[in-house]
Amino acid sequence: MSTNTDSTTVEAGGGAIDAARRAVTEFRSLHGHEPQVCWSAPGRVNLIGEHTDYNDGFVLPFALPHRTAVAATAREDGMLRMTTVGSDGRPQVADPVQVEDLRPGSVTGWAAYPAGVAWVLRESGFALTGADLVVCGDVPTGAGLSSSAALECATALALLDLAGVSVAAGDRTGGLRLTEIARWAQRAENDFVGAPTGVLDQTASLCCTAAHVLFLDVRSGEQVQVPFDTAARELAILVIDTKTRHAHSESGYGERRRGCIEAARVLGVDSLREVATAELDASSARLPAELQPLLRHVVTENDRVESLVRLLDGDRLDEIGPLLTASHHSLRDDYRVSCTELDLVVDTALAAGALGARMTGGGFGGSAIALIRSAEQAEIEKSITAAFDERGLTHPRFFAASPSPGAGREDVSLS
Ligand code: GLA
Repeated sequence: MSTNTDSTTVEAGGGAIDAARRAVTEFRSLHGHEPQVCWSAPGRVNLIGEHTDYNDGFVLPFALPHRTAVAATAREDGMLRMTTVGSDGRPQVADPVQVEDLRPGSVTGWAAYPAGVAWVLRESGFALTGADLVVCGDVPTGAGLSSSAALECATALALLDLAGVSVAAGDRTGGLRLTEIARWAQRAENDFVGAPTGVLDQTASLCCTAAHVLFLDVRSGEQVQVPFDTAARELAILVIDTKTRHAHSESGYGERRRGCIEAARVLGVDSLREVATAELDASSARLPAELQPLLRHVVTENDRVESLVRLLDGDRLDEIGPLLTASHHSLRDDYRVSCTELDLVVDTALAAGALGARMTGGGFGGSAIALIRSAEQAEIEKSITAAFDERGLTHPRFFAASPSPGAGREDVSLS
């Protein structure tokens, strides 16, 4: 947790027990009985490997300590009733909906995420008899830290549990079922909510483990848990939420994604992942000028993920900084998904002593991360806040995050 006492500093996530305890307590007071099950799932940061997931490439996320918990009980009448309780303790109750009436577009706002999951599970053949869901958590929303994936994944696990499907939450070695659930949660987001995102966030939320970053090869589905212990080096990953979300973030994301599909089509490959580094120049020459930077980003970013994993494998964590910064520059200059606030965070963090820094997630606002010496956290936060002040920008929020456990079942008797 940050040592800064500035009001913009947020608490580190309370973790599984905190979110679950709140969800169970709220469920009890709203419904007058115990929930049958409670599952929680974390937000994530992506250490590196950005905009590579939908190009079938490599990503390297870790789970945040911040989590979303879903307490649930099955209903017999086919009705889905969804309530979320924010940190102010005020419940927001979504309009109840019949599971069999769920269609893309039929539910909007926050409830579209859990409803989308119920829809996709129904479409996948699970017999859902309806459910009461109560959602609580502390994953910052709108910060590019995957609060939506945390909600989708916790909902999927709770609904599957109610449907009697046993989920091997403790078994992350094979990853088959968790991987399948990640794809369902992604489908809920793509086809029900209408956001054309990749599978990074859901996989991270479900499959990450404490003290590791998760290497995922999206094409093969291969997963490797790579030890990532910043504290042992007196280092930390500082997360900086710029609290900005630019209006064109969704259209910009879709536009980049379509650009990549078009580039792959012109090159005659299934995805840009197929282009080897050695072929970059020749392949680039075959593309129209506006698609060349997209290809360059994807190919060089996949390379950076592999290089970073090699450094971690070689116990050289303190040398990864330049790769993080190079990733940011590629996202800023080639992929063009950064923005003034993210660039300001990165430049200021580096000038104040960070070993590396980059935007994380989809971009156009949201959060950045910086690899810092733990002892310098307060100073770096101060420099960034001052830089934002100078430009009249809203103060960002800070927290230091270490890799935390992925989704799991909670004990409903814990509160
Ligand atoms: C968002 C999407 C992910 C991924 C990242 C960019 O977080 O949800 O699928 O594409 O952007 O790496």
